[in-house]
Amino acid sequence: MIIKSASLDIVCGYTSKVPVTQLPEYAFSGKSNVGKSSLINTLVNRKALARTSQQPGKTQTINYYNINNKLFLVDLPGYGYAKVSEQERRKWGVMIDRYLTRSKQLKKVFLLVDIRHAPGANDRQMFSWVVESGFEPVVIATKADKLSKSEAAAQLRVIRNTLGMTDGEPLIPFSAKTRQGRDEIWGLMDEVKEGQEDGIVKDQGSI
Ligand code: GTP
Ligand code: MG
Repeated sequence: MIIKSASLDIVCGYTSKVPVTQLPEYAFSGKSNVGKSSLINTLVNRKALARTSQQPGKTQTINYYNINNKLFLVDLPGYGYAKVSEQERRKWGVMIDRYLTRSKQLKKVFLLVDIRHAPGANDRQMFSWVVESGFEPVVIATKADKLSKSEAAAQLRVIRNTLGMTDGEPLIPFSAKTRQGRDEIWGLMDEVKEGQEDGIVKDQGSI
């Protein structure tokens, strides 16, 4: 799919209702600072469509990015940020739960984990939450540029084991720096495949 347009269309806070949208949604979840917003920017070839930050806890709302009026990439607020109060953590849980259970258009949830670390309790909980909500989980191991090839291979095994993933469940190493894994992630979005069948040409700046 050639990215013709990408815009932040909907921002959903704690007090907002989960919006009823007309386009398929693909959501990105994971720990604070794992690279969710950077991944969205890489997918759409933009430097700063989704706001990124070195400080964890940047994205605290559910942000819907409209891509080509064809689908939404949904940036979910990150979890596990130590400085957040218990009350804010509860709010986060309510928001995510509401989103996973009420969004009629949600097609797939991508769970991001940092390739350098074994997934923590929050990641494991999120993984089972996704599965229990009836979605096919796709795990993305971010910041792959920070490890050598052999280190990365070893870490992918750790991630698969720690989350208890089956062999069939996809686990994709990704880097926003080198763009490794970008095409594979687009390939998991059905609407994009439909687009390719429509005869959309693959070239630079497209997938
Ligand atoms: P929250 O919004 O706080 O939940 O964070 P986030 O998951 O959206 O993370 P964000 O994309 O803001 O990235 C956090 C930091 O990690 C930033 O300093 C990014 O530049 C860096 N980062 C993200 N992805 C990569 C990557 O693939 N490689 C490297 N080396 N750094 C990355
Ligand atoms: Mg973010």
